[in-house]
Amino acid sequence: MAARESDITARLERGMSSLVDWIDARFPMTKLIKEHATEYYASKNFNFWYGFGVLATVILVLQIVTGIFLTMNYKPSAAEAFASVEYIMRDVEWGWLIRYLHSTGASAFFVVVYLHMFRALLYGSYKKPRELVWLIGMAIYLCMMAEGFFGYLLPWGNMSYWGAQVIVSLFGALPVIGEGLAEWIRGDFYISDITLNRFFAFHVIAVPIMLLLLVTVHIMALHEVGSNNPDGIEIKEHKDASGKPIDGVAFHPYHTSKDLVIIVVFLIAFCAVVFFAPEMGGYFLEHANFEPANSLQTPEHIAPVWYFTPFYAILRAFPSKLGGVALMGLAVMLPIFMPWLDRCRVKSIRYRGWTYKLALATFALSFLVLGFLGLQPATGAYVTAARVFTILYLAFFILMPFYTKNETTKPVPTRVTK
Ligand code: HEM
Repeated sequence: MAARESDITARLERGMSSLVDWIDARFPMTKLIKEHATEYYASKNFNFWYGFGVLATVILVLQIVTGIFLTMNYKPSAAEAFASVEYIMRDVEWGWLIRYLHSTGASAFFVVVYLHMFRALLYGSYKKPRELVWLIGMAIYLCMMAEGFFGYLLPWGNMSYWGAQVIVSLFGALPVIGEGLAEWIRGDFYISDITLNRFFAFHVIAVPIMLLLLVTVHIMALHEVGSNNPDGIEIKEHKDASGKPIDGVAFHPYHTSKDLVIIVVFLIAFCAVVFFAPEMGGYFLEHANFEPANSLQTPEHIAPVWYFTPFYAILRAFPSKLGGVALMGLAVMLPIFMPWLDRCRVKSIRYRGWTYKLALATFALSFLVLGFLGLQPATGAYVTAARVFTILYLAFFILMPFYTKNETTKPVPTRVTK
């Protein structure tokens, strides 16, 4: 009996290996697995900050899968969109779950990606030789903003409608071409069925394709140069006789097993929100959006979803519309230049001087406070505070070449620590 079983196992193994050989002769499967997993060496001292990339990938897949199921019952027309979402919530089997997974997933995506970007600021992951990884990351971020914006119009709630109205009308502030441009984006003189149709096309196909492509290129670029680590040391500079970095461990199984734990912990927190607080007090699903779009009735306070509010606060901090739009554009674009703005040779915050530590802390605080202010009415003290924190936000980038040039740093060890 035991002999027969081992015979079957041996045959199965032979079958498997000839299948793998057959594929490898036609497609570099084993080569890719080796290059990107079993022989991709990443620093052994990764901490939890290094889990957000994998979480972003998980959420991207979740958004695409739940998005496909939502699309099966959603109607992209001004007459039917709102009712079709209600239909998904009430009548479609498990529709409520699919929708809550998707709406919570959108917010989770931004939480995770903001933390992922912050990690890069902590450990200097945007610096040479990872400039391109950072630039592709910024392109991903811009696509995510577009994806969030287009998706928000689709339920055709009143906040969807007025949110899109406000954002598209910003383009109208540009001199000469502004009004024409806003009309071209809407495809109409106001946000209408035509706008909804094109936003749907962008949200479900154009931008997701871009995101998938960009994420693939992002990881390819990263694997070309190798991951950074919390010490900001290039592990490739210290290799053993076989050419393997001494401080590195194979991504699979050593990092994948840790990533699995991170994914499980994330999913527990994520499910807690999906099942117990999917609206998150109006931050993930805004109250005004439970009413259908009404072009004659503006919601009491028009505010975008929380992940855009820091930029919305900057927009409203400036007295003129054009100035506000320019400042907001600057705030979104400035991080692109991080690899060249930061002139300190040391990568990781562990060995950097107090100036960068203070600047980064001030920047993070400004981002959070601006996020809060973007949710408040643009009046009195709120506007004054938004002006102060906008200046602090912008100063982090604009003054960076100066405060990082002669930073007093600590000696960087040659091998990774803990
Ligand atoms: C859909 C969104 C994104 C996905 C799926 C994604 C995925 C990943 C993955 C899997 C890694 C390797 C694991 C890790 O270091 O955490 C990584 C690294 C990195 N990502 Fe992203 N990323 C995304 C967005 C961004 C954005 C918006 C930025 C910055 C603007 C960015 C900048 C970086 C950098 C600099 C690294 C290298 C970090 C290091 O080695 O220290 N990523 N990304």
